[in-house]
Amino acid sequence: MHGEVVSRLQSSDSDASASHGWRSLEPPDTARDSLHRRPFRFAHDLRNSPLFSLESLVALSHEIMHRPGDAYFDAGDVAIDDRWGNIPMPQMSLPEVIGRVETARAWIIMKHVEKNPAYAEVLDGFARFVWDLAGPKQARMIRNPEMLIIVNSPNRLTPLHFDAEINFLVQVSGTKQIWICDPMDRSVVSERDLEAYYAANNYGTYRPEAEKNAAHFALDPGEGVHIPSHGAHWVRNGGSVSVSFSLNFEHPNWLHRDLHRANHYLRRFGLTPRPQGASPVADRVKALGFGAMDRTRTAIRRLKKR
Ligand SMILES: [Fe+2]
Repeated sequence: MHGEVVSRLQSSDSDASASHGWRSLEPPDTARDSLHRRPFRFAHDLRNSPLFSLESLVALSHEIMHRPGDAYFDAGDVAIDDRWGNIPMPQMSLPEVIGRVETARAWIIMKHVEKNPAYAEVLDGFARFVWDLAGPKQARMIRNPEMLIIVNSPNRLTPLHFDAEINFLVQVSGTKQIWICDPMDRSVVSERDLEAYYAANNYGTYRPEAEKNAAHFALDPGEGVHIPSHGAHWVRNGGSVSVSFSLNFEHPNWLHRDLHRANHYLRRFGLTPRPQGASPVADRVKALGFGAMDRTRTAIRRLKKR
């Protein structure tokens, strides 16, 4: 039955414009220059789309619940300085939590929803929009688009954290306020934070400087905002259930991941690595060296398993 709901939506949605009206609210040159550097706003035509009704999301969750790595939810009162993983998980199934989201104080995320063709169409249209906006040179560095749906209870807070991905948060129903910090502000996200993120899955540390320096955006349905990689951010839901989705792209590993992991290990050996950007040549050498070592280690591990 649930599959039927999603395929019915898929066929009705296929009549809609493939592009879903993605448009930057800033001049294209300004938005292009802001990619990875500063948040910027954009708009779309998916406001209150049936693809994102709670009925459709419960139907979709019956697919996602069979892919445990693609679902996460928690419930409770949360503060800006709470750490990921410390928030209790309710003893309910994913479809049940979505069905009770009005009162559950829940934060729900479903990943890789593009595995369903109806949502893949949304992601495809958006990826085309971003690659066009980026221009040919930057587009080569924006890879592996992915789509995540986020469902939140009224007034729920998402604590401060940062992400590696090039992120676009899209509001479909309900409202949100989001605060986004400058990704280059090392008083908010330090070099050690970046190293711990890539080497040990640490998602950031709350510091009061974040609240002083963050840019604030209020999102209504039909709007979205670009969150640059490494820009610490936190989100406060409005007074009704919020449905939004996040469209993510990845940087090539050598640009950030391999470099920060290399610096993490250098620091563990008692060295003080130069921060990213102090020497582009040293950055490249460290990243290439670590990347090659990492790939060799993975290949050896695979061979041993055979
Ligand atoms: Fe995030």
